[in-house]
Amino acid sequence: MKVALGSDHGGYNLKSKIKDLLDELDIGYDDLGTDSCDSVDYPDFAKEVATAVGEEEYERGILVCGTGIGMSIAANKVNGVRAALCHDVFSAKATRQHNNSNVLTLGERVVGSELALEIVKTWLTTEFDGGRHQRRIDKITELEG
Ligand code: RB5
Repeated sequence: MKVALGSDHGGYNLKSKIKDLLDELDIGYDDLGTDSCDSVDYPDFAKEVATAVGEEEYERGILVCGTGIGMSIAANKVNGVRAALCHDVFSAKATRQHNNSNVLTLGERVVGSELALEIVKTWLTTEFDGGRHQRRIDKITELEG
């Protein structure tokens, strides 16, 4: 699995910790920016990561901003992307099993880093259940422009 990472300034520090976790788990990734805590616009980085995942250049994407909300709104505009904002482990597991989410969004200002890393680990290691859930995902895909 290869993961595309992105953040704005509000998610930059948590993104760095996620990179350390991915190194530990031996999961490959590319960091598509931003590169510092200087103020930037989160939709620019949501677009980079979501487009790369939507075009299947990467299997998964992780986006971090202050709340995770802006990244989630923006990423879900891109065809083929199912972005899930998760601030608990249960949701991270369920959104993989039921929604086959391919982008995880997190808010650095919302959740502590230990919990955030547990969420990332759970989300990356949980498989999609398929079956009836695939039918529902197909209906979401029909909504795409
Ligand atoms: C940036 O200040 C902040 O608005 C952004 O990180 C994010 O929380 C947007 O949803």
